[in-house]
Amino acid sequence: MTVCEYRPGLEGIPATQSSISFVDGQRGVLEYRGMPIEELAEQSTFIETAYLLIWGELPTKDELDSFEHEIRHHRRLKYRIRDMMKCFPEGGHPMDALQACAAALGLFYSRRALDDPAYIRAAVVRLLAKIPTIVAAFQLMRKGNDPIQPRDDLDYSANLLYMLTETEPDPFAAHVFDVCLTLHAEHTINASTFSAMVTASTLTDPYAVVASAVGTLAGPLHGGANEEVILMLEDIGSVENVRPYVEDCVEHKKKIMGFGHRVYKVKDPRATILQKLAEQLFEKYGEDDKYYDIAREMEHVVNEKLGHKGICANVDFYSGLVYRKLGIPTDLFTPVFAISRTAGWLAHWKEQLAENRIFRPTQIYTGTHSIPYVSIHER
Ligand code: ACO
Repeated sequence: MTVCEYRPGLEGIPATQSSISFVDGQRGVLEYRGMPIEELAEQSTFIETAYLLIWGELPTKDELDSFEHEIRHHRRLKYRIRDMMKCFPEGGHPMDALQACAAALGLFYSRRALDDPAYIRAAVVRLLAKIPTIVAAFQLMRKGNDPIQPRDDLDYSANLLYMLTETEPDPFAAHVFDVCLTLHAEHTINASTFSAMVTASTLTDPYAVVASAVGTLAGPLHGGANEEVILMLEDIGSVENVRPYVEDCVEHKKKIMGFGHRVYKVKDPRATILQKLAEQLFEKYGEDDKYYDIAREMEHVVNEKLGHKGICANVDFYSGLVYRKLGIPTDLFTPVFAISRTAGWLAHWKEQLAENRIFRPTQIYTGTHSIPYVSIHER
């Protein structure tokens, strides 16, 4: 076997072959199953896109209708999951609650018939349907309220926004939210997807696969960045404070949240779409909200200072802004990302099963050898 050079973070090392999505970081291209993200954002819906990612082709009208119908039908949670959630500390992070509940779903639906298409379909439907209800239930329960019931008359995104904000959204807000979910649904082999694939490769159940990915997404260098962006913009507080803030970060080599990407060396195409949506939202519901202006100035100054290094706005820079405007609490931004990315994780789970080999990479040992054991009294 050839001995490879060690690359921290496995940068540039292919860990799989996949036909689910494609990124060209130099040209700012993202495609799902070969379709440009711009077209899907404009013409598809999140559920149709999830179907495309998971089954490889756009559904026919009948296929889409039954997929949507099944998901609607499975939105509710078993009362024992809700009982379990009552024991969660209200101060806990919603991503931890989501990870625990995703894993707990496996207690109820544990049959591992991974070669049975009906089992795969049921798991896909359950996870897409229930993950949003879990996130919304935790949101209400941590305030001491009963979990909100899903509304069968609302489509996926409108129902989710309704459950998160306790208000029925207007069609424009629901549309913007649906586009956000589409944009976050998949992104090749990032950290959480890799985590999902490694877990999937052991042939464990899909609930464990999603729970593992949720845990990985939670970190501030990955999905957690959108939350950090809002905290940063709130901290900056005004357009005038942007330049000194950025200059200080550059001088002290501090990471600016929502900028930089391992793959994109130009502006993330999802950030471009989200920026337009943010602009429209702020125009419609803006009033005296200064945060879009702060964000635009921030992008301008970061481009000036760090653009030459290929550090540009990533998806998280504008998504937090959009979610905030839609009335979603800041610490639910990453769980919302998880809801959407469940589609991508499931697509990779299915692809992994189709040609599975358990992940077992190698390591370069840097320790010593043959050290004699020293008894505890002699140390
Ligand atoms: N602000 C300032 N400088 C940065 C930033 C940033 N956001 N991102 C990278 N850099 C600089 C680094 O300091 C480093 O500079 P140096 O070469 O002079 O030492 C260089 O760019 C390379 O940075 P790395 O951290 O090595 O790049 P890597 O590819 O490992 O990291 C990452 C990518 C984690 C996304 C990084 O850009 C970052 O931490 N960004 C902020 C967090 C963030 O927004 N994460 C969301 C990513 S998108 C997603 O996960 C959905």
